[in-house]
Amino acid sequence: MKGGERDLNTKDRILKMLAENKGRFISGEQISEELGISRTAVWKHILKLREEGHRIQSVNRLGYQLVNSGDVYDRGTILSRLNTKILGKNLYFYETIDSTNNELKKMAAEGACEGTVVIALCQTEGRGRRGRRWQSDAGSGIYMSVLLKPDLPPTAVQSITLLASSAVCKVLEKYVKSGLGIKWPNDILINNKKVCGILTEMTSEPDKVQAIILGIGLNVWNREEDFGDELKHTATSLCLNTDREISRTQLVVEILKELEDLYLNFVEKGSSAKFMDIWRCFSVTIGRDIIVIQGENRWQAKALDVLDDGRLLVETPDGKRQTVLSGEISI
Ligand code: BTN
Repeated sequence: MKGGERDLNTKDRILKMLAENKGRFISGEQISEELGISRTAVWKHILKLREEGHRIQSVNRLGYQLVNSGDVYDRGTILSRLNTKILGKNLYFYETIDSTNNELKKMAAEGACEGTVVIALCQTEGRGRRGRRWQSDAGSGIYMSVLLKPDLPPTAVQSITLLASSAVCKVLEKYVKSGLGIKWPNDILINNKKVCGILTEMTSEPDKVQAIILGIGLNVWNREEDFGDELKHTATSLCLNTDREISRTQLVVEILKELEDLYLNFVEKGSSAKFMDIWRCFSVTIGRDIIVIQGENRWQAKALDVLDDGRLLVETPDGKRQTVLSGEISI
């Protein structure tokens, strides 16, 4: 028992445990073991805490999570605040899923309509770019996939990726005072640490997109110690970088709205100017000396610009200009 805890009653100790684990679920089993009380007793205390006005979310198999009064995060609350025309009109909200991208891909194959959104509280096999894993702990982040079906050639997929990172940045700039940036093609950084990643996957005919699955992973409540050794120097979360109250529901609603505005502008007007202006404004790539990583190949270059189709224009040390369509860069 830590100093001071002896003065707390059981209910307050449960509240303290929940508060210490903000952004994460703790199981009823863990609470009952730690406090030496039955699971039923835990449940009764949770009900009492709720009566007192604490917002405690309970989810089967995950346990309990204390949420800010503004961070009630469920399908009904999202739908009640959503003000979009197409994105999220069909919205599926899962407690646990392997990957929202996998789920939405299945739905797309079965004919799901444009704008269908899949969100999960946690993913067991969250995927990142280049076959990497995406840390997807329960309650820590936003794990969301959006189905788009633009009448465009498959080459447009890279533009859609830039469009998505621009939309997320437009929302995050309201929360983050400084250091927000996009690293080509679509890593969103705060002070050089990654806060959001976007995984765009596509099925297509030779000259036409069938479906684009836009997967967005945003670290929201993660504390520094939540990132394992692999990520602790390179990842960050929104709560570590803002003074503003955070609501995942509000973030989802705002991201879908920004995404829809930029997307409809792009497909209806056929111009990428609007989202490219935003992308360039947040770019931490343009003008920098970079290393281009393509499989085993690594080479130095200076990033000059990003073209409207998403390719990166670079100049190699011997003065030659070329474009990079895919790969990764380090800055
Ligand atoms: C990256 O590597 O930068 C992309 C990360 C994308 C993660 C998101 S979380 C929601 C969606 N489902 C997944 O399995 N991956 C994406």
